This record gives sequence, C-alpha cells and structure tokens, in this order.
Amino acid sequence: MKLILDLDTGVDDALALSLALASPEAELIGVTAVFGNVARDLSARNSLALCALLGRPDVPVYRGCDRPRGAQEAYVATQEVIDIHGANGLGEVATPDAERVPEEQDAVSFIIDAVNTYGKDLVLVPTGPLTTIAAVLERDPSVAEKIGKIVLMGGALTVCGNVSPCAEANIANDPEAANIVFSSGAPITMIGLDVTHRTFLSLEEAASWKSSSKPAGALLADIATYYMLHEAAARERGGCVQHDPLAVATALDPSLVRTIELPLQVDTEGAFRGRTIGCNERLLTGPYVNVAVEVDAPRFERLFRERISALLDLPNNG
Ligand code: RIB
Ligand code: CA
Repeated sequence: MKLILDLDTGVDDALALSLALASPEAELIGVTAVFGNVARDLSARNSLALCALLGRPDVPVYRGCDRPRGAQEAYVATQEVIDIHGANGLGEVATPDAERVPEEQDAVSFIIDAVNTYGKDLVLVPTGPLTTIAAVLERDPSVAEKIGKIVLMGGALTVCGNVSPCAEANIANDPEAANIVFSSGAPITMIGLDVTHRTFLSLEEAASWKSSSKPAGALLADIATYYMLHEAAARERGGCVQHDPLAVATALDPSLVRTIELPLQVDTEGAFRGRTIGCNERLLTGPYVNVAVEVDAPRFERLFRERISALLDLPNNG
C-alpha cells in the first residue's frame, strides 16, 4: 500500500503521522500540507520536522491549499485552535527544524501524479479541511475512479459537532470543498466524530513514551500531553480522543470500523453550515460514502500502542 497523508499538522495529526511511519505494511510516499490547526506553511514545517525526528527525513512534503475555497486571504489559526494545539501546532513543544524543505511541486499535481503512477495501490488519508483534495478532483475528475481509496477524518453524522452543535472542525473549515469530495464518486470512508469520540489515549500512556532512549519519545509525550491538558473534554477525562490516528489505522485495517453507505452532503448555509447529512435527492442514485458508525476501540488502541512502542523502541506495555 502506498500512502499519502494530507495533514494540518496539529497534535493529533502528529500522532497520525507517527502511526503511519510505524506501520510497515504502508509506504508513506509523501505528506501534503493544508491549513487548519495551523497555517499551511507551518503545517508543512511541522510535518518535515516530525518526519526527521522519527527517522524518516526522506519523506517529501508538498504544499497544498492555504485557505478555504473562495477566501481572499490565507488562513490564520483562530484563538480556539491555538488554545488546544498551541501557536506552533505542536503543543508549544520546540522541535528541531528539518534540513529538508517543502518540494517545489504543489500538492495537487503531486497527488494526481501519484494516482496515475500507483492507481488502486494508493490510499489517501486527509485529516484536515478537504480543500486540496477538492482541487485535485476538480483538476482531474478521473482520480475518483483511479484511486484505491480515500479515508478521511471529518464530519459527524450521528453525533453532535465539535465547533458548532452540528459541525465538525475539518468539514466546517471548508464545507464547499467537502461537498465536492463527497459527491465525486471516489471510494471514500468517513471517519467522523461518530467513531473518533469512542477512542482514547491516556495521559499515562503518553507519559510512558518518555522512557524511550529516542528524543522523539519525550517530544511526542509533551506534544500529546499539552493537548490533553488544554482541550476541555480531554482535561476532564485524563486523556484525549484519537481523531486523526483512527483514520490512518482504518486505512491500514478497514475491519476496525463498521460503515453504512450514504449519499453524503454538507450544509453550506446558515446555522447548519458544516453539517454532514444524508442527501435525499441522491438516496437511490449515489454516489455513496462509507460512513463509519462503529469502531472496535480496544483493537485500535492496542494497534496504536504496539506500533508507537515499536517506533520508540519501547517494550510493548500490553
Ligand atoms: O475535529 C477534529 C479534527 O480537527 C482533527 O483532524 C484535528 O486535527 C482538527 O484538524
Ligand atoms: Ca487534523
């Protein structure tokens, strides 16, 4: 399996990237950077720094979109996001700059080239706003039938949203882009709050990474801990849910979730802007999205623990 991660690198994106790099069955052929938890260029910088830190300085990073569709100005992170992920996106933890810089080629043409090269072997995992992926599908609609699959983190179908009563952050950041992606006909699995809110990473587990002899252990532990102490629900529970890592895990092992098929659309007007909901007009015709509604959380959590322990040269603590 060839993997591309489209990240707005951010704390849980960092954990998702770590999981991908710890997974031998997938070859990470590139990371694309989008705005979201941080501005686009900071997302690219963070992904490069993390790849270097985790022993993979060779992974190329490509710049994607820096603003939602139709926006006049480049996106800057809101105070709400800064409060959770830190101004640097990595929980105010200082990570060394990578020697590598972002590629000259842009993310849209990189993804299209990769689809043409690897076809059904290519899996794309977007864990930020879908702006770059919509641009890919607009520039080359044949990507929808050529690509292996898209496993995205975003949306909330059967549960409330996290930035409004009905909208999830990644979708809310660019609902028009999400509509293009959901109606493209590409084989899509949506990993939304319906399932990510049933997963958990404890403060204790993150702290255990500090025993690693690798510098990445303490840094990853501090990055995750910041999020756990600053995100309201995580502070209460002594640990956080695992949004983006679950999308990567499902790309590796689809049996972790149960899905239902639905012609998905996103509301773009008024108070419901950003809501993911079934589209009545396309009920019988599609295209359909596989929406995850159940997750085997213990199995996911075990997979995450085993892979991160191996990455950090730690004994697997069960
Ligand atoms: O709603 C959770 C999502 O928003 C995650 O991808 C997180 O990293 C942010 O992008
Ligand atoms: Ca994200």
